[in-house]
Amino acid sequence: MDFVEQLKSSVDIVSVIGDCVRLRRSGTQRYMGLCPFHDEKTPSFTVHVVHQFYKCFSCGAGGDVVKFVMEKEGISFYEALKSLSERYGIPMPKRSNYADEDSKLRGALMVMHELAEENFRANLKSQAGEAARAYIAKRGLAHETVEHFGLGYSDRSGRALIRLFEQREFSVSQMEASGLVGKRQDGSLYDRFRNRLMFPIHNEQGKIIAFGGRALSPEDEPKYLNSPETDIYKKSKVLYNLHRAKQGIRKDDRAILVEGYMDVIGVTAAGFHNVVASCGTALTPHQVQAVKRHTHRIAVNFDPDAAGANASERSVDILLAEGMQVRIVELDGNLDPDEYCKERGPEAYLACIDGAKGYFYWLADRARAKHDMRTSEGKVAVLNFLLPKVQTISDNLERMTVANDVAGYIGIDRGLVLDHFKKAASDRDKRPIQRPASPLRHDERMLLIALLTNAEGRSEVLEQMKMLETIESLPSRRIFHAIFALDDAGSKIGFEEVNSRLEEADQNLLAQAVLNEDGEISREEVIASVESLRRSEQQYLRLQLKAKISESERSGNFDEAVRLTMELQGIEKAARGRRS
Ligand code: UTP
Ligand code: MN
Repeated sequence: MDFVEQLKSSVDIVSVIGDCVRLRRSGTQRYMGLCPFHDEKTPSFTVHVVHQFYKCFSCGAGGDVVKFVMEKEGISFYEALKSLSERYGIPMPKRSNYADEDSKLRGALMVMHELAEENFRANLKSQAGEAARAYIAKRGLAHETVEHFGLGYSDRSGRALIRLFEQREFSVSQMEASGLVGKRQDGSLYDRFRNRLMFPIHNEQGKIIAFGGRALSPEDEPKYLNSPETDIYKKSKVLYNLHRAKQGIRKDDRAILVEGYMDVIGVTAAGFHNVVASCGTALTPHQVQAVKRHTHRIAVNFDPDAAGANASERSVDILLAEGMQVRIVELDGNLDPDEYCKERGPEAYLACIDGAKGYFYWLADRARAKHDMRTSEGKVAVLNFLLPKVQTISDNLERMTVANDVAGYIGIDRGLVLDHFKKAASDRDKRPIQRPASPLRHDERMLLIALLTNAEGRSEVLEQMKMLETIESLPSRRIFHAIFALDDAGSKIGFEEVNSRLEEADQNLLAQAVLNEDGEISREEVIASVESLRRSEQQYLRLQLKAKISESERSGNFDEAVRLTMELQGIEKAARGRRS
């Protein structure tokens, strides 16, 4: 077995995909979830347990486990193999020649980040880290918390990483590409992070891809210095702590979104394992989609200042557009999440999360505070502010419910508001996409699946099937031909083998056939399906004969017509004999 085959046979596609897509069982052999490759609100993404492939019936994405990792993580074939082999502890052959230049660079950058993290952690424990340790103590972080989040300290030298990378023989261009090293006008290099408390930032697979560095004293600017974008770090796609929080998010069926690294750390230390933050950038649809694969419910808990409120408002627009159920957490005492957990304790914080207002009440409150609700101008202004937001709710029923509630809440005639939305609703058409019914006939589908999965059934019927002309009239004829060809060549017949011989249209057909069927096909079903095909074979031949008979009669060739009629009678008699 070659390495790729070995890897694929020891890795379960359901667990790999299940790691970043929330999958629900849908039948005995498949799972469904929201497609990670396009934006959707109803699942059309399917994973097949037995044949180990995925398929999205909406955007068409599909393939095996390696393809999934490639597409999901935007990496090469080689990197996908490497990533899977590391995750599942299957050693990869040393001299594998799958790596291209881009993958080699990304691999080097990952190694450099690991080295940097080690260096920062060691610094924090060393003499140089004394001030950083004092800062950590002042912020009330326990030792376990520091370890858990991999915090470290970048020393004052400005040369520590450069030296390390030089020793390991990374090139100058690799160093620059890592974002960890800067270049002065005169061409000399320096460490980007100096004298800062370091927060490693991971991708969803748990690899370090960037850092945030906090200044230790208020005079140091900026407060946080973050890695620039690199080949392995795309800010708009990463959420801080998601790789750790995703389990907790699924368990609670809720995510908490906060603003800062320290909020994530403080709230996690208080016992909440579902907290994420965007790393100093405005929330993006990509980030929301990453959360949405684990839950639809999110509690937004930004800082209590005006900047935090404005950021909440912007984030919520994006969250709503992605179909998330949004609540806004407001903490009293002007505290941010980190401070609140420390001062009031986990129970009080949980109560705030559980009691958080639905987004529209929060928005309505904000709007009310800005306008005089006693005047009709004020009411109109509030309504004009809220209506477009309500409009973004994609689910019709929910939109009407919210519109009704909001109208009541701000004291505006409900009828008026609802009319507005009924009109708007009829303009939309967002029907859920369903798994399409297979265009294949029942017998055809049964046989395809049986030939792929049931070796006994296969040997029993394959030879007979090769003789059937009616196969040529089936939409799946090319799939059968592929199976016949494999059999003639004495090769293994399985989903993979057949699939790889097909063009895309036929691959889709095969995927649909397989996904529309659950469970084992019994021997009886196989036999019945062959019988059914044989009957269509007879019908096919009869129709052809009848056409030829009338053709001969029309052209006056009566001898030929008689001969064909006798042939037809023979076939019909045989068919009756078989049936009785
Ligand atoms: P905050 O200033 O609220 O930081 O900025 P914080 O994480 O709560 O940290 P403490 O408690 O003040 O120490 C929120 C987030 O905005 C980004 C960082 O990601 C930070 O965690 N930020 C902030 C920057 O990127 N640069 C800055 O200069 C400040
Ligand atoms: Mn803060």
